Amino acid sequence: MSSADKCRPQLVVPMPSTATIPKAVFWIFLVIGQVLTAQVPLPPTSASGDRCDLSGQWNLDEQPATNATGNLVFETANSLLQHWANTRYRNGHTIVPGTVPVGTILYHGAIMGPHVPTALDWVATEPDHSMLFCMGEVKSGCLHVTFVVTRPMKVLYFDGSSAALFSEGSMDTQDLMAWSEMKPEWALNEYQRIEDLCKWGQKYGLNGFVRMQMNFEMMICNFTSHMEVVSSLNLETLHLKLKNGQPTEDLNTMHSTFELMHSASWREAYPGETQVILDYSGLVSFYDTALVPSLVPRRVGLERWDHRVAGISSEDMERVKDRLIQVLEQPPVTASGIDWKTVLRLVVDRYASRLDVMQYLLNTTLDDTHILLDHAEKVQRQLRTVLTPYTVLAAVPSYTSVTSDTQNSWAVPVFRECVTSHMSSISISARGTTLTPSERLLLQALQETTREICRVATRMWASGLTAGVDPFYPANKRPDADHIRTLMDEWKKDLRGLMSWLDWSVWVKCRPACNVEEICYLPTWPIGFFPPPYDFPESQNSARSQTMENTSLPDPNKGEWKRPQPKCIRRLGPYGF
Ligand SMILES: *[C@@H]1O[C@H](CO)[C@@H](O)[C@H](O)[C@H]1NC(C)=O
Ligand SMILES: *[C@@H]1O[C@H](CO)[C@@H](O)[C@H](O)[C@H]1NC(C)=O
Ligand SMILES: *[C@@H]1O[C@H](CO)[C@@H](O)[C@H](O)[C@H]1NC(C)=O
Ligand SMILES: *[C@@H]1O[C@H](CO)[C@@H](O)[C@H](O)[C@H]1NC(C)=O
Repeated sequence: MSSADKCRPQLVVPMPSTATIPKAVFWIFLVIGQVLTAQVPLPPTSASGDRCDLSGQWNLDEQPATNATGNLVFETANSLLQHWANTRYRNGHTIVPGTVPVGTILYHGAIMGPHVPTALDWVATEPDHSMLFCMGEVKSGCLHVTFVVTRPMKVLYFDGSSAALFSEGSMDTQDLMAWSEMKPEWALNEYQRIEDLCKWGQKYGLNGFVRMQMNFEMMICNFTSHMEVVSSLNLETLHLKLKNGQPTEDLNTMHSTFELMHSASWREAYPGETQVILDYSGLVSFYDTALVPSLVPRRVGLERWDHRVAGISSEDMERVKDRLIQVLEQPPVTASGIDWKTVLRLVVDRYASRLDVMQYLLNTTLDDTHILLDHAEKVQRQLRTVLTPYTVLAAVPSYTSVTSDTQNSWAVPVFRECVTSHMSSISISARGTTLTPSERLLLQALQETTREICRVATRMWASGLTAGVDPFYPANKRPDADHIRTLMDEWKKDLRGLMSWLDWSVWVKCRPACNVEEICYLPTWPIGFFPPPYDFPESQNSARSQTMENTSLPDPNKGEWKRPQPKCIRRLGPYGF
């Protein structure tokens, strides 16, 4: 038998007899059939042509390469500017140029000082955030300034919890840009950081840096060049009650803290913070193994929580900087016109909830045979649904040939269509343009990610079909419980492997869901295990550094702080984080 024959079914599956179909329905079938035919101008193609290459890229047993980072590039790029994912994994690995469009409103709170800031200071995207810096005596109130962006502002975004001021990795990428080395001892030195980042960025027309902590914020290099003051108000203070520079359990204080986290929850999931528009064609990722090979050995054996950019070689660092400079010196336009944010999201939308429900169905104790079979059939339905657009008729097996093939090689054309349908569309749409290096990285991440999803889904579906739980291929006799149990165990292993490799933050949620008086929350620097440093004595700038030097910082290597897990917290008093 030739390798091509191996992929083909031995027998053609019988079509339903027309005699059993009511006439009107039959006509509808025909019409739909013609429409579908008309919509398929391209022959089914793939990298390996029509051949069924079992040993090579279409091997259903071949897992992703150990050091491949497609899953990491995919999930970080898919999580940019989203609060949830970047609170979960604080150590950013991505730097992306972006624009803050005209009309964006930004806020700045301070002690009732003499001046509205003019250069080198911070703004928040939500007043709930800036108001916490609106500090002052109850008698004198505080200063709260509202700005509006009047010219498109060129910014650079650092992903992760890049405004969480500690030396365990969240500031690595900024340190590189500001100082060309990690300076853990300067973790709290916010003033030096903004000064040096702005000085570096000035050469490339950057007017700000977007970061994230309790919510999104921006470092602004020049307050007059791209913004105008809308209002500058002497407001009533929030009546925060602090003790030794720390907030107390006082209801007002807890309320303000909660409401800040609440405002961040609006930016928690896709599309995230939309007041910054990122240029994905200029994205630089430290998970790019071609650009930053020196970090590959550093990640071996580490959990993702422990991935850091510290440890990068100086050659790699120079390469990253050169790449960024190249990107910044060019006008911010996407080279191919592809909307990468949407392209990536589409994959998550399509598979996330179906994989999730399969995991739920497989997470049962396997005692009751009825429930067992019922769940197996339901999982098989889900797999079928995922693969429906790729289940080419010529691939599906005959009843007699199914069981003889332990490698499930007959299912390879389904696997191949599933993968290439995504990839071919990108290649066709990018034809005639040159993808930037960033876009090629995203394309590769998309390729690795869809390949693995399709591989595991096809493998599971083919096994289910063979085991006799597929609705279109009912077994002659009811499959016995032991067989189903073996199938479910294999499925569990496959699905667990896939979902932990993908590690999508959309799956991290409160289970069971929170009640009406609660919201789902991930421990966020610096709240919860360490009271926030609200006590800003003189000016905001120096206060940022001084106050925090005196507080006991949380140990980022401990408990929920190291691996933030979701939990329900009250949205109404009494509060608790
Ligand atoms: C800020 O921008 C304004 C307007 O472009 C310019 O006149 C001013 O010199 C800048 N300030 C600094 C500190 O660079
Ligand atoms: C993964 O990377 C490490 C460190 O560079 C290397 O020793 C190992 O051989 C790589 N593994 C594979 C399968 O390529
Ligand atoms: C599996 O079920 C157990 C018990 O119901 C539950 O605690 C656990 O969270 C479930 N796991 C998943 C991944 O759903
Ligand atoms: C912070 O600590 C320094 C030195 O330990 C001390 O001089 C200063 O008063 C402290 N500041 C506050 C706000 O407690």
